[in-house]
Amino acid sequence: MFSRAFVAACLLAVAYAKPIARSMQPRCRPTDTVLTVKVQVAQNDIAGLEKALMDVSTPGNALYGQHLTKEEVESYTAPKAESLDAVTAWLKENDIEASSASPAGDWLTFDVPVSKANELFDADYTVFKHTDGQELIRTLSYSIPKDLAAHIDVVHPSNTFAVASRAPVFKAVQAQSSASNLTSRAVPSSCASTVTPACLQAMYGIPTTSSGKSTNVLAVSGFIDQWANQADLKSFLTSFRKDISSSTTFTLQTLDGGSNPQTPRSNAGIEANLDIQYTVGLASPVPVHFVSVGDNNSDGIDGFLDIVNFFLNMSTPPTVLTTSYGFNEPDLTSSMANSLCNAYMSLGARGTSILFASGDGGVSGSQSQSCTTFIPTFPSGCPFLTSVGATTGITETAADFSSGGFSNIFARPSYQSSAVSTFLTALGSTNSGKFNTTGRAFPDVSAQGENVEIAWDAQFGTVDGTSCSSPIFASVIALLNDELIAAGKSPLGFLNPFLYTTGASALTDVTSGSNPGCNTNGFTARAGWDPVTGLGTPNYAKLRTAVGL
Ligand SMILES: *[C@@H]1O[C@H](CO)[C@@H](O)[C@H](O)[C@H]1NC(C)=O
Ligand SMILES: *[C@@H]1O[C@H](CO)[C@@H](O)[C@H](O)[C@H]1NC(C)=O
Ligand SMILES: *[C@@H]1O[C@H](CO)[C@@H](O)[C@H](O)[C@H]1NC(C)=O
Repeated sequence: MFSRAFVAACLLAVAYAKPIARSMQPRCRPTDTVLTVKVQVAQNDIAGLEKALMDVSTPGNALYGQHLTKEEVESYTAPKAESLDAVTAWLKENDIEASSASPAGDWLTFDVPVSKANELFDADYTVFKHTDGQELIRTLSYSIPKDLAAHIDVVHPSNTFAVASRAPVFKAVQAQSSASNLTSRAVPSSCASTVTPACLQAMYGIPTTSSGKSTNVLAVSGFIDQWANQADLKSFLTSFRKDISSSTTFTLQTLDGGSNPQTPRSNAGIEANLDIQYTVGLASPVPVHFVSVGDNNSDGIDGFLDIVNFFLNMSTPPTVLTTSYGFNEPDLTSSMANSLCNAYMSLGARGTSILFASGDGGVSGSQSQSCTTFIPTFPSGCPFLTSVGATTGITETAADFSSGGFSNIFARPSYQSSAVSTFLTALGSTNSGKFNTTGRAFPDVSAQGENVEIAWDAQFGTVDGTSCSSPIFASVIALLNDELIAAGKSPLGFLNPFLYTTGASALTDVTSGSNPGCNTNGFTARAGWDPVTGLGTPNYAKLRTAVGL
């Protein structure tokens, strides 16, 4: 299945096997383009890892907070020996020497010309062009030898056509907001039209100081050449965090040839600036790491896979990870979606709280689009991470773009079954047939996502999107972790089993607004969990108590 937004642009030469039908003549010159292929070999014991994750993440369990080491996780995720032997032997027969692309050794990677990939997988790799100009090399079908079917879980690239969602739109504002520094806990009235760190500190009770433990890292994902600008961060802090040094900054980490150039200043990414300004600007002194993933593989799926393997390779991974990029779930094969989701399971087991923006298309997916049935987003439908929706206003209501719904790939996890059943009963037959009543439901929580003020290219302006909400919620978790670590306790790790039990009453339930899309009114926020705002927005004081501080 591939995205409607793609059309076959030009066909690469099919050098072997089948004569090329007249109607299929290549429109491009034959090419020896080299493909970097990744193959995931069947893992040892994913069910065992899931149990281990739930044990360390469920309050009240004897193992709560006892996150797994790198080696412990890899004992579950390493390839099965017989599978690795079978796959390696097959590659060797084809003169291919693969190297390991993940710390557990389950992902193998090798470079081959397209012609060779076509032969190996009986595939027809073709250049597909997206309506926005982006090109991907994919094949509509492929096969692997029958006796390897049980040993290979995923081949990439193959028939996954996902492209990461685009950055939010920047709307310049005349002058910076007056709500710049907090003198009382009252929410400044300007927060109704422009949201600044002071607004969020007042609304959610976010503290302005903390101890800043070095083992407590808040990581921010950066993709598709979105660069976080230091000078813009300084302008932002100068205006909105007069109580901290305007030189407060982030640490850069790169992979896949990623970078973070600072000049020209106009190169700064709106998404990256937003994500960095609402983590450094809210969670400081918690150390913030900006992880810039190179643009080698422009679809984003490779970047998503590589960044999680990058963290899994660390002896001390970040305690919180926020990502404001995502895909439409139908654009991923279920094998690729499962593979990425299992990687989040691994990282959660290591003790990382993983937060993702839920998407900005309401029930129509990551961006607004036409549809007849609701389009869930990925990875929000993965049960092993926390999906963050958006709200607006001082008395919060759902932001109308806040994506939410039900996965068609992942079944509903037990931690949310009661909350979601209550919602479905209250919903009755509304939207019946347009969504999957048995799927993992999202978002889990929400935070402000409209008219959020940032600095970009030496100007001030506002942005909208769940891209705002995820770093804001992540900052709250990072500050809680800071206090927990200072008190000699474990960081929170995978949040959902906590959020749906003891955490729920520490969130402010949002009970109005909706997320229209697909020519419907979408879902409506209501008392309790709903697929627009989840369980609600943070209340720091109550969360402190709920986590045992
Ligand atoms: C993991 O880290 C080690 C040492 O830091 C490095 O040599 C290795 O290539 C990394 N592995 C992966 C899969 O990134
Ligand atoms: C990926 O990017 C790095 C750094 O820019 C470059 O050295 C490498 O050749 C690139 N790989 C591919 C496959 O384009
Ligand atoms: C609905 O979700 C379940 C997982 O809960 C999945 O197995 C099933 O295929 C989905 N149905 C459709 C029509 O996508």
